[in-house]
Amino acid sequence: MPDLPEHPSTVSTAFRSALEVIRGVEPRIADAIGQEVADQREMLKLIASENYASPATLLTMGNWLSDKYAEGTVGRRFYAGCRNVDTVESVAAEHARELFGAAHAYAQPHSGIDANLVAFWAVLAQRVEAPALERAGVRNVNDLSEADWAELRQAFGNQRMLGMSLDAGGHLTHGFRPNISGKMFDQRSYGTDPATGLLDYEALRASAREFQPLIIVAGYSAYPRLVNFRIMREIADEVGATLMVDMAHFAGLVAGKVLTGDFDPVPHAQIVTTTTHKSLRGPRGGMVLCDESLADQVDRGCPMVLGGPLPHVMAAKAVALAEARRPEFRDYAQAVVDNSRALAEGLKRRGATLVTGGTDNHLNLIDVATSYGLTGRQAESALLESGIVTNRNAIPADPNGAWYTSGIRIGTPALTTRGLGTAEMDEIAALIDRVLTTAEPGTTAKGAPSKAQHILDPKIADEISRRASDLVAGFPLYPEIDLG
Ligand SMILES: Cc1ncc(COP(=O)(O)O)c(C=O)c1O
Repeated sequence: MPDLPEHPSTVSTAFRSALEVIRGVEPRIADAIGQEVADQREMLKLIASENYASPATLLTMGNWLSDKYAEGTVGRRFYAGCRNVDTVESVAAEHARELFGAAHAYAQPHSGIDANLVAFWAVLAQRVEAPALERAGVRNVNDLSEADWAELRQAFGNQRMLGMSLDAGGHLTHGFRPNISGKMFDQRSYGTDPATGLLDYEALRASAREFQPLIIVAGYSAYPRLVNFRIMREIADEVGATLMVDMAHFAGLVAGKVLTGDFDPVPHAQIVTTTTHKSLRGPRGGMVLCDESLADQVDRGCPMVLGGPLPHVMAAKAVALAEARRPEFRDYAQAVVDNSRALAEGLKRRGATLVTGGTDNHLNLIDVATSYGLTGRQAESALLESGIVTNRNAIPADPNGAWYTSGIRIGTPALTTRGLGTAEMDEIAALIDRVLTTAEPGTTAKGAPSKAQHILDPKIADEISRRASDLVAGFPLYPEIDLG
């Protein structure tokens, strides 16, 4: 791993001791924790949204900060005795502001979903609630008449959002019906150009003009290219929308200064949300960055939509953000993208079709239906059987729908943390290609064609599993941790 801690033997002792203490109370949990690191060490992990947090980040989460209630925010808590939590939250926010060049940072969200909810309600509070309070001549919703309150509640439900379609790589939390955001907003999606697979900004502009959304959401879970946030802001300004960017997936590339200028969302969007556990390599959690105009509303995230903060996780965010401010993190972020490009080249050279023809970021989307005659579900299972962990994903206009899908999403943040480089990526491309060219669609129990079942010669699965585990064995995960 690139960021070895200064005291490897101390790290080993710390984790060993923690497991010993846990084993004394509930051995099954100690075993599960130990087994998890053993499993992770063996896996060829290509899940684009996962990573390996540093020992310092992990150790920061197991302590007394966890016991403290601290609703509210720094200096404005609903509980007494929060001075240490104030320190933790301030340091996390300071690192986030400095790292991303943001005017304001809010480190409380427990996850990406929560960060998005905080952002939506901050914008609704600014653009719908505040004018209603002003019209009524009051400062607080509790002071509205029943009639004004009913009108405001209706106004909340009448707002529009424009977000990236799921099959183009958008996320459920960007206004889709199964998520609360889809129940809150009248949503319309923008997509990609069917010919190139790239974002079609002019179609987006036309849609925004016609739909007049309150919020335009940019950001993705499965789009392998750059997004031009300058153009997105220009479109948002033209129609009077607030631009919100969900950089959950690529925050590490922004932190590592691989995405700069038009491709860095922070200078362009009024509000930016992220997770902290994906390419940013921190603890599981979320964060919101915003300009000054939204700062007060964002800080009301708890108790608006969040339960009490998790101070131990905010502390771990501060540690991970401090790590991301080190020069090594820039090398890491660049290596993530170099590896992703090498994987793309290796796959294409072997005949695979990639959505958009390649990648500019940490992920690739293989069109396994066109390339190998498989559904995403079949390909995902065949790869897993062969020791390669990926996940299926819809592709634009997916003929197999959102469940079976036609795509496999592969990302490089985790393997890059282990130290694998472009030569290993080419070898991984060979392994993936071998599995997928050998696998075939299977049948149901009654012999009908199945989108779920696959057939793969067990000898091939064994051979590839061995090669995959030999490959990662050369790049030990947490080499400084010996659990004995
Ligand atoms: C773009 C995007 N936003 C939000 C989320 C939600 O993050 P979490 O799982 O932490 O709630 C994800 C996670 O998959 C994501 O990819």
